[in-house]
Amino acid sequence: MRTAAPNRPYGHPRWGRPRPAGASGGGTARPPPRGTPAYRVVMTRIPHETSGEPNPLHALTLDRLRRRTSMKWRTHPEDVLPVWVAEMDVPLAAPVVRAVTEAMELGDTGYPAGTAYAEALAAFADERWGWDGPAVERTAIVPDVMLGVVEMLKLVTGYGDPVVVNPPVYPPFHDFVRHMDRRVVEAPLGPDARLDLDVLEDTFRRVTAGRERAAYLLCSPHNPTGTVHTAEELSAVAALAERYGVRVVADEIHAPLVVGEARFVPYLSVPGGERGLSLMSASKGWNLAGLKAALALAGPEAAGDLARMPEEVGHGPSHVGVLAHTAALRDGTAWLDALLAGLDANRRLLAALLAEHLPDIRHRPGEATYLAWLDCRALGLGDDPADAFLRHGRVALTSGLPFGTGGTGHARLNLATSPEVLEEAVRRMAVAVERRPGR
Ligand SMILES: Cc1ncc(COP(=O)(O)O)c(C=O)c1O
Repeated sequence: MRTAAPNRPYGHPRWGRPRPAGASGGGTARPPPRGTPAYRVVMTRIPHETSGEPNPLHALTLDRLRRRTSMKWRTHPEDVLPVWVAEMDVPLAAPVVRAVTEAMELGDTGYPAGTAYAEALAAFADERWGWDGPAVERTAIVPDVMLGVVEMLKLVTGYGDPVVVNPPVYPPFHDFVRHMDRRVVEAPLGPDARLDLDVLEDTFRRVTAGRERAAYLLCSPHNPTGTVHTAEELSAVAALAERYGVRVVADEIHAPLVVGEARFVPYLSVPGGERGLSLMSASKGWNLAGLKAALALAGPEAAGDLARMPEEVGHGPSHVGVLAHTAALRDGTAWLDALLAGLDANRRLLAALLAEHLPDIRHRPGEATYLAWLDCRALGLGDDPADAFLRHGRVALTSGLPFGTGGTGHARLNLATSPEVLEEAVRRMAVAVERRPGR
């Protein structure tokens, strides 16, 4: 059933196939077969080859995006507008395209070798965060961040050991930890969406009483709230970890995606962070989830732990993924800056749209990530507003329920899209509220 048909155009004719006159923006129009001139024209006109860095969020039409075959675009029928999973509606940064294209031309599709990814991250960290800490010899490539998290947790915990997380948090923090036979223990964020250090301390005290080993899986910056932890907060975390003998594994995948005044602080850089382990990646910042690769980093006192990581873990990352991530970090900073400016504009747009059309949604714009965490409890849509938005408005957000404590009545919206799609998403959400049962 097609409901809430969108009524305004999405077209950015510079990059996309011109929209057929009268077609709705819902994307039901079929894409032209691959190889048609329109397709080739789009593929050869990468914006970054020209002067300046245009906002990549303005580059693609909805029709073109619907030709993608990834999870965001293939999970729901075509009349659903997807603003859920963490994929961005952007063309790739030109340096990434060049690196991958060159690899294809050379047939350079063997196994990964060398430390170029770690070197590119080290240079990026120095320039971006003023951190000269990621020593290449204390890094290892891993297949992706979540598999890296699993491997790091295996290094510092054993069967049945507790792993502390801060809900609401990225659902795989619960799932992956459970699947590796560790015990998830929640230490919820405070009402201000920041780490609650008292709750964290209580939790550390509780889980370490009579136990040898415990770990804390920190999400920094935090998905879904976009909270950027301060140096003071992270230093306090490190002190608590030291006091209670808890090992910290920091998932820092969203680190490149910090906007405005906030400053990302690498966990390994704070006093006491020397025993920490971290996972970093170009995957979120440059939209490379399909090009599998990530880096595990160890503080100086955790180098021995990282050295115990089984060699075969390093066989998992894709060589082409490593090339792409390396190019992004090394040569993709201008593109990243253009993206961050676009995300900042979208953040402000979303706040304005919600204030106008859905004022009962409570939303605190985050300082990082491209995700917006929406408190929809006042809308009367029940525990799972994302389900109501989907069924009654044909717009797909991520359900808050699997984020753990604090997720009920919430939904997560991905604002890494064009302003037009964002407007349409909010319009559809408002339609869903209008159509909610019992109204
Ligand atoms: C906090 C966090 N960690 C990990 C991932 C997944 O990363 P990867 O695909 O490298 O496992 C995501 C994806 O959105 C994420 O938000």
